[in-house]
Amino acid sequence: MTEQVVCKKSDLEPGQMIATIFGKQSVLVCRTLDGEFYAYLNQCTHQGAPLDKGIICGATTDKSTPGDYHYCREGEIVRCPWHGREFDIKNEGKLLATPNKKLPSFKVKVENEDIIVYK
Ligand code: FES
Repeated sequence: MTEQVVCKKSDLEPGQMIATIFGKQSVLVCRTLDGEFYAYLNQCTHQGAPLDKGIICGATTDKSTPGDYHYCREGEIVRCPWHGREFDIKNEGKLLATPNKKLPSFKVKVENEDIIVYK
């Protein structure tokens, strides 16, 4: 098993993400509003955009209708900066529109102030 400290807990507030390096890979570390940490390959599955240049946001619910949007899941979705694909941070990095596609993920653990990524 390979593991590495990639950043400090204090490097990101809930609702933020940062690009880190794990071995030779750029890894996106996300912290959701409940304080949990997640790590994904920092590369969109579409055309490879660096996801850390996108935003963390929420999603609309299935109760939304044209012109009447219901927003939910604030801080749980990463939106790609290039073409707007959205990935579910808390659900294995699954693509919202096509859940059978997902971002490659890494395991994360927190030890004191250290955020450790491992495979
Ligand atoms: S590169 Fe991410 S949606 Fe196209």
